[in-house]
Amino acid sequence: MTSREEALLTVRDLRVRFPLKAASLFAPKRYLYAVDGVSFSIARGQTLAIVGESGSGKTTTALAVARLIDAYAGSVNLQELDVLGLDREALRAARRRFQFIFQDPYSSLNPRLRAADIVAEPLPPMAADARQRIVDDLFEAVGLRPEQQRLFPHQFSGGQRQRIGIARAMAPQPDLIICDEPVSALDVAVQAQVLNLLRDLQSGRGLTYLFISHDLGVVQHMCDQIAVMYLGKIVEYADRLSLFQNPLHPYTRALLSAVPRVDPTVRGGDRRLLLQGDPPDPANPPRGCRFAARCPVAETRCHQEPPALRTLRNKQQVACHLVTEDAVSPLG
Ligand SMILES: Nc1ncnc2c1ncn2[C@@H]1O[C@H](COP(=O)(O)OP(=O)(O)OP(=O)(O)O)[C@@H](O)[C@H]1O
Ligand code: SF4
Ligand SMILES: [Mg+2]
Repeated sequence: MTSREEALLTVRDLRVRFPLKAASLFAPKRYLYAVDGVSFSIARGQTLAIVGESGSGKTTTALAVARLIDAYAGSVNLQELDVLGLDREALRAARRRFQFIFQDPYSSLNPRLRAADIVAEPLPPMAADARQRIVDDLFEAVGLRPEQQRLFPHQFSGGQRQRIGIARAMAPQPDLIICDEPVSALDVAVQAQVLNLLRDLQSGRGLTYLFISHDLGVVQHMCDQIAVMYLGKIVEYADRLSLFQNPLHPYTRALLSAVPRVDPTVRGGDRRLLLQGDPPDPANPPRGCRFAARCPVAETRCHQEPPALRTLRNKQQVACHLVTEDAVSPLG
């Protein structure tokens, strides 16, 4: 995001923890720090992608931003609105400003409602004809036919169900649409159609997305900025071109090496860096760099001191001791 673009959403030092089961009644309380000091911002009409393996804290971040779970520290500002400071009533009014599109379009749609009623669900009370006009417009926008409004979710394909989910998310004209793995459950060909639809709707209607994926390949044509998360922390944060052309963090490189069809003009993945093993236990993270046990260039210092997220001269942000100020990765 450039300084000229006003931030729609600003998240600072967000922290979410879940209590762990205590070993005994008198044992000290322990927590799993699922989101451990995450900061980012999104300009109106843009997309920020959050990418990382399962368990890195992507969904928890999104839920905390929309106040669907509680953060224990940090701030979330939606323009003028201090989201984490809202009382119950103000929160109810603010809820429609965030809408979600989920991974599984089947389980997230009420099977007993007709498609038109699913799409109209988040609308405020209004006259029937006004409501119908909005539903007609949304069906057309997402490429569904008017006669499909009467059908039930099981009468649609997976891709069509996701179109219903997109129409529903757009219905109350939210400020931010949070797409949590919106195409992960779909076939590759259908994935491309849904991603294209999301992009077209964004340019036509000025939508703003927080787009969550475990797959850098999915977001490579889909976002303006990318935050790479590992075990509750952002380890690299950059605009899309910089991240694909000059990925700096060893974990970003490893994620890229798992992308089969990276655009040939970008630097792409290093096949030698295929990720091995699992991330460490999030309830008991290592003292130093959280990626150290899987990092091919880890040094003694990496196991002792956690690297801070720094902003380099080229504005890329990275949390790695060995990346230089001139944005040279330890992997060359
Ligand atoms: N309600 C909860 N109670 C306890 N722990 C939780 C809860 N929700 C998430 N966690 C833990 O918090 C961490 C982050 O989970 P989260 O679902 O945010 O990850 P994710 O990046 O969205 O993963 P995935 O790609 O699998 O969806 C994980 O270790 C998870 O087990
Ligand atoms: S800080 Fe060290 S262990 Fe962590 S990613 Fe950088 S080089 Fe690897
Ligand atoms: Mg998730």
